[in-house]
Amino acid sequence: MIELKNVTFSYSGQGDGGLKNFSLSVRSGECILLCGRSGCGKTTVTRLVNGLIPHFFIGELTGSVMVNGMEVARTPLYRTAEKIGSVFQNPRTQFFNVDTDSEIAFGLKTRHFLRRSCAVG
Ligand SMILES: Nc1ncnc2c1ncn2[C@@H]1O[C@H](COP(=O)(O)OP(=O)(O)O)[C@@H](O)[C@H]1O
Ligand SMILES: [Mg+2]
Repeated sequence: MIELKNVTFSYSGQGDGGLKNFSLSVRSGECILLCGRSGCGKTTVTRLVNGLIPHFFIGELTGSVMVNGMEVARTPLYRTAEKIGSVFQNPRTQFFNVDTDSEIAFGLKTRHFLRRSCAVG
């Protein structure tokens, strides 16, 4: 379902930092914990999966990131958001809601509206 193959990414202007030759495969129904020291690239992996990289965060990206057969880098964010929900580290500090379940459901609840605004904008 989620497939990262040989992904290398460094944020614009960051030089040598970021991810190097990273691969990860997550099958449908699997629950995985990605752990590592601060700054090792965990958040960067989530940004690759939800499409904020490369659509929002600019940098050097090689390798491929696929979600449900879609190549995230070539898929508009509103389409990726139909499959991927993201929550922040603190469960009570989210973008639109005060708990993580509602935050994930929010994208699905509002997707018709989002699709319309993207078509208009
Ligand atoms: N927006 C950004 N711009 C430039 N560098 C960043 C940005 N976000 C993260 N980094 C850098 O990318 C590397 C990985 O960071 P990150 O993915 O946030 O790690 P983690 O979530 O594991 O703590 C770090 O060196 C960090 O400083
Ligand atoms: Mg992080």
